[in-house]
Amino acid sequence: MSPHYSNLSKRSIIPLHPSLQNKPPKGPQEAIELPDLHNVQGDICFTFPKDAEQFAFFHIKDAAAFKKGLGSFLPTSCFAVTEILDKIDHAKQTARSCGEPISRIETKLSQIAFSPSDAEHCKGVVESIEKVTFNSSITILHLEVGNVLPDRKEHFGYCDGISQPAIRGCTVPHPGRTVVDPGVLILGYPGDPVDVDKRPAWAKGGSMMVFRKLEQDVPGFIQNVVSHGDEWRKVIPDANLTHEQGIAWYGARLFGRWRSGAPIQLAPIHDDPELAEDDQRNNDFDFTIPGEPGPSDRYCPFNAHIRKTAPRNLDPYKPTREELAASSILRAGIPYGPPVNHQQPHNPLPNVERGLLFVCYQSSIEGGFLLQTQWALDRDFPKFGDTVGGPQPGQDPILGEAPSRSSDIRPRSYVRSRGGEYFFVPSISTLKTWASAK
Ligand code: HEM
Repeated sequence: MSPHYSNLSKRSIIPLHPSLQNKPPKGPQEAIELPDLHNVQGDICFTFPKDAEQFAFFHIKDAAAFKKGLGSFLPTSCFAVTEILDKIDHAKQTARSCGEPISRIETKLSQIAFSPSDAEHCKGVVESIEKVTFNSSITILHLEVGNVLPDRKEHFGYCDGISQPAIRGCTVPHPGRTVVDPGVLILGYPGDPVDVDKRPAWAKGGSMMVFRKLEQDVPGFIQNVVSHGDEWRKVIPDANLTHEQGIAWYGARLFGRWRSGAPIQLAPIHDDPELAEDDQRNNDFDFTIPGEPGPSDRYCPFNAHIRKTAPRNLDPYKPTREELAASSILRAGIPYGPPVNHQQPHNPLPNVERGLLFVCYQSSIEGGFLLQTQWALDRDFPKFGDTVGGPQPGQDPILGEAPSRSSDIRPRSYVRSRGGEYFFVPSISTLKTWASAK
């Protein structure tokens, strides 16, 4: 852990101290052009530190009035996020040394993004939000509100947001993290799959954002996991697990991580909360097993969620490490809806929906989110050469069909997309140019 932000150990993305920025950590790499953190909107590089988030989807009805509003709109920059993180770090340090509870830091962070879709594509409840800046130049089409659940959990009960790409020269590269060139996430910089000269000037410093409302059927998911509670007997018969441990083991194999966040590749039989908390170790793995040749699913199934979306180290098979880095996305979603009481999962509130307001950033949606979704749903991914009769990994059990105990019952999915959209998140200088354009 770097001494800077040393009180933010629960955060997976820690900005590099300005004095260390653009100094390649090791190896022969040259220093590369880094994005101007004052110019990139703030959720993109380091994600907003947040308890709650509101997404307001709007339609511009009066372009001239909207431009006027845009002139006075102040988006939070990535640099401003580092300053807020400094404040949180300091507050935690002070609270720790005085033995007092941490005082809350009240702050409102904002970002704006655009999509070419018209109102028809964005049906939903029309409500009103405070429109001080944009006044009547916009019509709010739809609102979504997300709230963070305790211990960084998502609704199925698993810790989320542990593995994020580190931006070379900007983010602390904790061991095992995929270090990506800034252009993988931010347009117009080294690593952008589109030739930097082919990007229009206004695109530089922007990012492509995916938004998906993913509804989660928590009681159904838990029922499925519980019904597989004795599956361990087939795989690790000597482990002598209790029924509860068997259920936890089965659930962890669907994600590739225990509820605590500990990777099953490093803790294959029992959860290890200390490992989960340790950012020097909780990503420091790939899916190879020392002494075992070739790809192995002894510890982590080939189709576990984290292995389908990021199959670390498949060399010599595809994707290679370089292709994997190029497919990286920065996830910044937040749960919505009230949590299920995991002690009484089958007694949920009636007619209440819950899930994940999934958000991710990348410079190519095709090479990032869409590619990962394709991998997740392709039963034959990853493919181990041309071997006929080789292992068929199956679908990602979180994003695709979860395996069913009985072959008579059609496997079903516990995550359902309720809609979404793709957006362009412009740089702050581009927003200013648009605001002043005639
Ligand atoms: C409701 C839906 C989803 C749930 C409940 C979920 C949950 C999780 C959890 C618990 C983790 C492990 C923690 C971590 O490594 O940060 C994870 C990791 C991950 N998820 Fe998801 N996720 C969902 C949707 C998606 C989608 C739609 C994508 C992209 C197509 C995605 C991509 C990833 C990636 C890339 C990782 C990190 C893999 C790694 O680097 O090891 N997830 N997710």
